[in-house]
Amino acid sequence: MARQTGLLDTGRQGYRSVSMVDQVLPDGLAAVLPPSARISEKGNLEIAGCDATDLAREYGTPLYVYDEDHIRGRAREYADAFADLPLDGQVVYASKACPIVAIVRIMAEAGLWVDVSTLGELEVARQAAVEPGRVVVHGNNKSDGELEAAVGRGAGRIVIDSLDEIDRLVAVVRQFRSDRSRAEGPQPRSSSPGNRRKVYLRLTPGVVADTHHYIRTGQEDSKFGLGLADGQAMAAVEQISGLEELDLVGVHAHIGSQIFDLDSYIETADAALEFIADATRLHGTRLTELDLGGGLGIAYSPTQVAVSVAELARTLGDHVAARSRELGLPGGLRLLVEPGRSLVGRAGITLYSVGVVKESGGRRYVAVDGGMSDNIRVRSAPPGHRVSRRHPRHSRNGGIRLDDGEQLQHVAPACCRACFPRASPNCRAPGEHPRRPAVDGAVTG
Ligand SMILES: Cc1ncc(COP(=O)(O)O)c(C=O)c1O
Repeated sequence: MARQTGLLDTGRQGYRSVSMVDQVLPDGLAAVLPPSARISEKGNLEIAGCDATDLAREYGTPLYVYDEDHIRGRAREYADAFADLPLDGQVVYASKACPIVAIVRIMAEAGLWVDVSTLGELEVARQAAVEPGRVVVHGNNKSDGELEAAVGRGAGRIVIDSLDEIDRLVAVVRQFRSDRSRAEGPQPRSSSPGNRRKVYLRLTPGVVADTHHYIRTGQEDSKFGLGLADGQAMAAVEQISGLEELDLVGVHAHIGSQIFDLDSYIETADAALEFIADATRLHGTRLTELDLGGGLGIAYSPTQVAVSVAELARTLGDHVAARSRELGLPGGLRLLVEPGRSLVGRAGITLYSVGVVKESGGRRYVAVDGGMSDNIRVRSAPPGHRVSRRHPRHSRNGGIRLDDGEQLQHVAPACCRACFPRASPNCRAPGEHPRRPAVDGAVTG
C-alpha cells in the first residue's frame, strides 16, 4: 500500500503531508532526481542521506539542494571519457549552469576547465582558484570592461563572437601591455608566442539542432558567432592573422541545449573541420583546437532518455579523428566540449513550501513560495517538466497548475540558467533576504 508522505510542506500550519509518494520513488521521479534520492523510513524524501524536510526547516524555502557526490561523479565521468579518445580531449564546465564557488571548485579538482560568460562567473572562477589559463571567456556582447577583465586576469581562451570585437580586444591588449610596461619595466617582445592572447572564433555553423527553438544557437540567423555561409568567420581569420596581439588557436561552436540526437554535433564538427582546413589553405593559419560547446540533454520527464557521456565522447572522438585525417589536417588536434546542464542538472532539486491550498472550478490549487525568480527557465523555454503549467509567484496568478491526473511532484532537476541566471543574484546565504533561495552547498549525508 502506498504511503502518504510529505515531500515538503511548511507554511502557516507547519509541516504536513500533501503528496502521495510511494515508499520507493515513482518511476517518473526516480528518472529525474539525483540517483541518491530515496524515501526514508520516516516517509520523507532524502537526498544523499539528508532529510529534505530537515533541510527546509533549517534553511527555509525555496532552497536549492545539490548532491555533491553526484556532481563529482559526473565530472569524473566526463573527464575520464574525454581522456580516452584517439585525440587530445578536454572538458570545460559551462559555469552558467551553476556558478557557485564550491561547485566550480569541484569541476577544477576533476581537471575540467571552466567557461565563463559574465564578470560574475569570472569572479567565481577566481574564487574557486581555477588556474586563469584554464578559463574560457564567452559572450556575444562583451563590454570593454569584460574584455579588460578577461585580459587582466590572464584568461586562457577568449572566444571572439563578432568582427567588431577583434579591434576592441586588440586595443585592450595593447593598453594592458603598456600599463604593465609602465608598472614593471620592459616586457618580452610583444609578438612572442607566450605574450599573445589565445583566442577562438565562435562559428555559426548553420546547423539547426533538434531541440526547442528557444535554446537553439547554431542556425544561420543566430545572434551568436560569425557566419560560415556569409564569409564572416573567414574574414575574421584574415583580420587576426597579421596581428601580434592575438593568437588564433581554434574554433568554437555551441548549437544549443537539451540535445538528444548526436547527429547535430556531427554536422557541426564537419562544418568546423572544413573551416579549419580552409583557414590553413587560404591564410596559412593553423588551428589546433576544436570546441564543440555543450548541450547534452538531461531527462526532465521519464520519457526523455539522455545520451550517455561515454557515447558522446566515443562518437565525437572517433568522428573528429577520422574526418581530420580525411581532410589531411596535421595531427595534434585538441577536442573540447563545454557541458553545463549535464554535469549538474540532475544533482540539484529545489524545495518549496506549500502555502494556500484551495478548490476552485473543480480543481485544487496549491500555492508554493517560489516562481520565476527561482525557476525561470521552464516558462522561457519549456524543457518538458511534468508540471505542465506554472504561474509565477510574482504574478497575480502565483502558484502552480497541474494537468488532470498529475501528482504534486514539484521536484525537478535544476535547469541550466533557470536557477542561476548570473553569478547567482537569486541565491542567498542562509538568513538573508527571505524570498531569495538559499543554496545548501552540495550536501553529502
Ligand atoms: C557557449 C556555451 N557553451 C556551453 C553551454 C552549456 O550548455 P548546456 O548547459 O546545455 O550543456 C552554453 C549554454 O548556454 C553556452 O552558451
